[in-house]
Amino acid sequence: MSIQISAMTKSFGQTDVLRGIDLSVQKGELVALLGPSGSGKTTLLKIIAGLEWPDAGRLAVDDQDWLQLAAQDRRIGFVFQHYALFPHMTVRDNVAFGLTVRPRADRPGKSVIAAKVDELLHFLQITHLADRYPGQLSGGQRQRVALGRALAIEPKVLLLDEPFGALDAAIRRDLRRWLRGVHDATGSTTIFVTHDQEEAFELADRVVVMGAGRVEQIGHADAIHDHPATPFVARFMGATVELPVTLQAGRADGAGLDLTALSRRALPDGPAQLLVRPQDITPVPETDAPWRIVTRMSNGAHLRLVLRHPDLGEAEADVPRRAVKADALVPDATVRLKIEAGTIFPQDRPQQAAAGTPKTTPTRLESSR
Ligand SMILES: Nc1ncnc2c1ncn2[C@@H]1O[C@H](COP(=O)(O)OP(=O)(O)OP(=O)(O)O)[C@@H](O)[C@H]1O
Ligand SMILES: [Mg+2]
Repeated sequence: MSIQISAMTKSFGQTDVLRGIDLSVQKGELVALLGPSGSGKTTLLKIIAGLEWPDAGRLAVDDQDWLQLAAQDRRIGFVFQHYALFPHMTVRDNVAFGLTVRPRADRPGKSVIAAKVDELLHFLQITHLADRYPGQLSGGQRQRVALGRALAIEPKVLLLDEPFGALDAAIRRDLRRWLRGVHDATGSTTIFVTHDQEEAFELADRVVVMGAGRVEQIGHADAIHDHPATPFVARFMGATVELPVTLQAGRADGAGLDLTALSRRALPDGPAQLLVRPQDITPVPETDAPWRIVTRMSNGAHLRLVLRHPDLGEAEADVPRRAVKADALVPDATVRLKIEAGTIFPQDRPQQAAAGTPKTTPTRLESSR
């Protein structure tokens, strides 16, 4: 099933939660919705599921207007972050649930349901858990059962709202691979919500980055990583260092910065902002350079350096500890910052410019996650 969402808005009271969402998902595609807490991800899923209604906009599935359909007529499989399995039912009965509550005319016979559930348990590799109760399962096993329950009704669309949110990193990785296999084998159209970028990028065909009720960027992992469309996406992708630069004929220049690795930008001459990930900054020791190393911390693999510029404040750099020049990167050393990659955006702080104060605010920005 293909899903078409256009110009969708939704408010709760005074809060605009969705501010005009346009999104198309192709049949058989696995799309991840990635965004910080409160950006409207769950609300969008609930609208697709028919558990919530938008104020305006369209939702078409295979060209059928789904806003005219009640939730139970949409054939949605939904897995929630904290999915409550029925505690008094075995795994087998939990998975069978969606089929057993169908209206009589539509309900398969008992033996058909049993066969279907067996097949599903086998497919999801949880046959050995069939007779256990949810209280006797690990978190990862519970999420597999929850997905089994969602798949039993042969959903047209599968919606997963942070299904692995509560689990630890190693199990998440396993389940991610497993889920991708399940998706490919069933050929379902899947929307997966997460606020973990690694999870989104590993799992999805395309990633939709949401921020404050808007789609900020849609694309493949590499494009979002290398070419964030907005400062919001750049920050969300870990570009926590912000440096003022000056553009001339598309070339950027900045205090104590080596920007030769950056390609030209088609932006007007004048002040601009450069957003960079700490791991894309290579400090190069140089006498009389304006940046000075303030602290050096090692986590074994990487050195995290805090650097200070007399006018620009602080920036952070991540350097592989075994890198050639890492030994010279000690507190009080003066360095030039070679920027290996980064994105330049037009200046977006008119209120500061208007105040006429030099930009002495810290160059570190908290990631919005
Ligand atoms: N039923 C409701 N009534 C009032 N406000 C709501 C309701 N549901 C959601 N909101 C608000 O809408 C905004 C978006 O919520 P939503 O649950 O869609 O965010 P989210 O992106 O899923 O966040 P998270 O990552 O924390 O799950 C939040 O500000 C939330 O407080
Ligand atoms: Mg949510």
